[in-house]
Amino acid sequence: MARQRWANRTIFLLAALGSAVGLGNLWRFPYLAGKYGGGAFLVPYLIALVLVGVPMLMLEFAVGQKMQQGAIGSYRKLHPSFGGLGILALLSSFIIVSYYAVVMAWSLIYLLASWGVKWSGNAEGYFFQEVLQVSEGVNILGGINWFILLSLFVVWLLVYCCVWEGTKSVGKVVLYSVPLPVILLGILLIRAVTLPGFLQGWEMYLKPTWGALLDSEVWTAAFSQIFYTLSLAFGIMIAYASYKTSEDDIAKDTWMTALLNSGTSLFAGFVVFAVLGYMAWKTGTPIGELAASGPGLAFVIFPEALSLMPLPGLFSVLFFLMLLLLGIDSAFSLTEALNAAILDQYKHLQIAKVSMVVCFAASIAGIIYTTRAGIYFLDIVDHFVTSYNLLLVGIFQTILAGWIYGAEKLRRYINQVSDWQVGKWWNVSIKYIIPIVLTTLLVTQFSKDIKIPYQGYPTWALGIGWAIALIPFLLFLFLLVKDKNKRQG
Ligand code: PHE
Repeated sequence: MARQRWANRTIFLLAALGSAVGLGNLWRFPYLAGKYGGGAFLVPYLIALVLVGVPMLMLEFAVGQKMQQGAIGSYRKLHPSFGGLGILALLSSFIIVSYYAVVMAWSLIYLLASWGVKWSGNAEGYFFQEVLQVSEGVNILGGINWFILLSLFVVWLLVYCCVWEGTKSVGKVVLYSVPLPVILLGILLIRAVTLPGFLQGWEMYLKPTWGALLDSEVWTAAFSQIFYTLSLAFGIMIAYASYKTSEDDIAKDTWMTALLNSGTSLFAGFVVFAVLGYMAWKTGTPIGELAASGPGLAFVIFPEALSLMPLPGLFSVLFFLMLLLLGIDSAFSLTEALNAAILDQYKHLQIAKVSMVVCFAASIAGIIYTTRAGIYFLDIVDHFVTSYNLLLVGIFQTILAGWIYGAEKLRRYINQVSDWQVGKWWNVSIKYIIPIVLTTLLVTQFSKDIKIPYQGYPTWALGIGWAIALIPFLLFLFLLVKDKNKRQG
């Protein structure tokens, strides 16, 4: 069967952008900026974008487009012994999508509860006690929360409807699901700037504290954020690019995706801090205390702020609809990375069937996060996958493409098909800068996790995290050595 294709270039760009723009732009970037030096954070952030983000994204686009395969097949074409690296990337995708969908399931519940603004007056209690019914600690599972499980299945049904025809159905969905959340953000922004307090919010967001640049933590935060926000090292961008033809432009698409994604982050920051500024004005709480990241921002602080506004129901609906739309293209991009690899291997299978199996398997894997201890597991797994698995894939991917296959060879291919020519700096980034930066991040994180157990969780629970970080990596090394021996023997 002929390989699937994107209908046109815009569709590809929207799909790649949809994967990149996600919850991270809304609940991670603004928080990091507020915490790490306000406007000064833009310095390490933009340096990380140009030095690591753009070159790595270009690498993934080039590899997928040249090899015309998903992650496993593409890595194998770079060097026959490296198929296991693809497995490592796709395992991370599978693990992430299985909890990412649970966050979407919470959003769906909130969307339904929005009309009545059910959390009004007690947003924190509503999230933890009513929606999650969270247990005392990670060792008390507390049984499955059936309501969340039901919502999770609905989310997976939605994801399935997006991917069941591969690029064809994804192409139709992204036309709406990518621009719409940005429009919704714009509406929220207009709402917020017509309320008092927003300027104080922006001051907190943008006022530079230059001293922050001397803190190494600020730099590590910027580099990891760039890596995460561009959905790198999951095999997603490789799979998406493999559905372009091998003559398509690469350089321009890379810059467009990277700049539009970061632009959306900056924009989201204005919305988040305008709303926080209003809330601070209304409640008298300092903005610094309100600024939170992750679920705390989206499911506690923001809902509370919305409940204080005129027409709270309407704006809550818009906000949670936006959250769902932001999440869904990231969720199905992870699913597509898995589908691509399976369909490469078993060409006779139907896309719809493979998608069904992947969606079903990931929804089953997500059940653990629907227990009363779900949020603890989510926190632990998220921490380990994003701190270790991703960095490991990133490091080995640059070694494979830059050193073993040859950065120069890949660069020549990029220049052959692209209007904008890429200079030799790209080779330097791929061969030296990225592996060094990622290794530094890895070592820093490792020494931190060894010294202080993450969030004080019990050893057995963190053991699950370490297993998730180590077992896939050992499997990759095992496959690498085995294959090498086979070739030599
Ligand atoms: N890029 C997404 C974000 O910023 C996160 C993500 C990573 C989504 C990897 C899918 C895959 O929210």
